[in-house]
Amino acid sequence: MSELSLKTIIFPAAGLGTRFLPATKACRKELLPIVDKPLIQYAAEEAAVAGFEQIIFIVRKDEKSIARHFSDSPGLRERLAKTKTQQEVDALTRTITPSVTCRYVEQPEALGLGHAVWLARPFIEEQHFAVLLPDDLIDGGSYGGCMSQMMEYYKNNKCGAIGVEEVAESETKKYGIVSTEDSSAKASRITTIVEKPSPEKAPSRLGVVGRYILPTSIMSVIEDTKLGVGGEIQITDAISAILGKERIDAYRFDGIRYDCGSKLGYLQANVAYAMQSEELGVEFSNWLSNEVL
Ligand code: G1P
Repeated sequence: MSELSLKTIIFPAAGLGTRFLPATKACRKELLPIVDKPLIQYAAEEAAVAGFEQIIFIVRKDEKSIARHFSDSPGLRERLAKTKTQQEVDALTRTITPSVTCRYVEQPEALGLGHAVWLARPFIEEQHFAVLLPDDLIDGGSYGGCMSQMMEYYKNNKCGAIGVEEVAESETKKYGIVSTEDSSAKASRITTIVEKPSPEKAPSRLGVVGRYILPTSIMSVIEDTKLGVGGEIQITDAISAILGKERIDAYRFDGIRYDCGSKLGYLQANVAYAMQSEELGVEFSNWLSNEVL
């Protein structure tokens, strides 16, 4: 197996989604739509375009709705086929590229992101794997998906990578914050990483977004990682523990990130994507500028 093959990506999707209650009482946060597509489908498309062949979804106990979204629905297709062309039926019902295999692993308890990632270990065979947090929606625009950009970086540099962007000083307590060897470079080796520090304790303002390429050796480190911020096993703490041995670079991606784990970010994403929509863009933008603004 080539050292540089990187086929597997983990989608942690087992959080409680409490910020969106009551919407998330019976509906998974990851299935909330941005215009007409659930967040997690944008994530799957970003992963497929970047060349991943296997997605490991970490879901809550007895959670089936995400698997249902990505499975075939012959009954629905048959009904739509009565009034639509094959191409239209495919566009409305195909939720995943056939070349991508989906696997589902249950997280029995909400023990944190580090624990969620660790649960996927039986499926990781290569030296590196990726993690994508579906509630960080990234529009790479003409630069291509964030994961595609990071895969390119990985192929050229043969090291781990974490997507980062500058965050406001008041926001450091919402993110993993890194410091690097060269803080002004597009990409640079991470020297420290801290989970959700206060502005006074933050080593910089470079915040981690939900895109990671990590060495598989981190799995055994997670096993020894103690409970961290929020009483959970944090991936940030495990990353911090391997920085001395493994090169992991912070990578400033090109594009716009929407924090769809927050209501504001979620609404901003809906507006931005609606304005770009082929079907609605012109009408929606006109309405927005004439009636709302
Ligand atoms: C997680 C990570 C954090 C990262 C963030 C990006 O936090 O623990 O380091 O900056 O995702 O969205 P969460 O948003 O799950 O609290």
